[in-house]
Amino acid sequence: MKLQQLPLNNKRVLLRVDYNVALENGRVAEPKRIEATLPTLRYLLERKATVIVLSHLGRPKGQDVQFSLKPVTETLASYLKKEKLPHSGCSLWPGTYPSAETKKRVDSMEEGEILLLENLRFNAGEEKNDAALAKGLAELGDCFVQEAFGALHRAHASVDALPRQLPSAFGFLVEKEIEVLTKVLTNPPKPFVVLLGGVKVSDKIGAIENFLKRGVDKVLVGGALAYTFLSSQGIGVGQSPVEKDWVGRVGELMKRQNGSRRLILRQDHWIVQDFKNPTNPKVTDGPGIPEGWEGMDVGPKTLEVFGREIAQAKTIFWNGPVGVIEVAPFEKGSSQIAALVAAQTKKRTLTVLGGGDTIHAISKAKISETAFSHVSTGGGATIEFLEGKTLPGIAAIQQ
Ligand code: ADP
Ligand code: 3PG
Ligand code: MG
Repeated sequence: MKLQQLPLNNKRVLLRVDYNVALENGRVAEPKRIEATLPTLRYLLERKATVIVLSHLGRPKGQDVQFSLKPVTETLASYLKKEKLPHSGCSLWPGTYPSAETKKRVDSMEEGEILLLENLRFNAGEEKNDAALAKGLAELGDCFVQEAFGALHRAHASVDALPRQLPSAFGFLVEKEIEVLTKVLTNPPKPFVVLLGGVKVSDKIGAIENFLKRGVDKVLVGGALAYTFLSSQGIGVGQSPVEKDWVGRVGELMKRQNGSRRLILRQDHWIVQDFKNPTNPKVTDGPGIPEGWEGMDVGPKTLEVFGREIAQAKTIFWNGPVGVIEVAPFEKGSSQIAALVAAQTKKRTLTVLGGGDTIHAISKAKISETAFSHVSTGGGATIEFLEGKTLPGIAAIQQ
């Protein structure tokens, strides 16, 4: 069902969001995921709904105050004020569910009121997709709106079991994410270039294989995951991290490509001798890294080759920094990639980014998110969507 088809007037709406945001010193450090839900909140409030907001935060073991949604409530309240949303209050409810007190509190909510329920993962049943927890939550609302794009790949109670019990719809953010990523997956303007960085081959190989199967023009492998690819080709990578268990599968993938040049690996690297004290970096001549040295960022040859592919693309999907952006000056390669992709957006290329660290990389490069066609709020969810998997949170709404 579309959000526009859900009867909302004077209804109690359970709104599942992904407010799993980065915190620093007890405050929200990166509010993008909160901001991205404001259009749906506005829509609900303007239709005089009372809104019960559900989210997880982090991976707590039990009820650990470090993972409280309190800082999120404060940030949300300041946005509601700033954006002049028609609400009558916004507060955090510390209970777990199902409980009679929570039911009583929700029954006493006023029109336009927003109540954030404390971290869903404080309930043992959430990650177990527990039916009793889903039932307890369902009793609190008349309908359900799924706005937690970043959590759609989790078969958890609030994502899977709960929406199956109530009239349900996607929120505007989830609609937009699905629309853009479906275009990237099924009908990208060509040439289509995928740039993958980051650390874990295991997280991304499914997406690489699916893109190749679907006829992507180029896959550029840039981050630390490239070390496993280079290793599979018998190229030494010194002390750089290699996922040994994946060398075999990566080697087979390379063999299937059979020198087609659809898969392009890093060509050179900035390297250091001591990761903990990364002084005197030097650049390699080629893809190999000498013993005792470790890769930190892509070198100029890689940027030139990747830059050429980016400049020709009509669709670009980028996930994962190409260097260790946390340690200066090794954020430079990712900053340059960000600038190249942003420049391509101006030439009407569809540019789509995803991943928490990728967003961090563009902010380090001082490039606004508006310089890209779409910046996904999902991490694992975006990658699993692009692997072609059916996400539990989508299946539950489309049942
Ligand atoms: P995202 O959150 O955007 O999906 P990932 O979590 O997959 O990205 O990867 C981010 C991490 O990848 C960063 O912490 C960065 O330090 C690391 N990284 C990228 N390139 C390299 C490299 N060449 N060597 C070591 N680490 C790297
Ligand atoms: C994310 O940040 O990717 C989502 O909120 C899911 O979090 P999780 O990986 O802890 O399930
Ligand atoms: Mg990450």
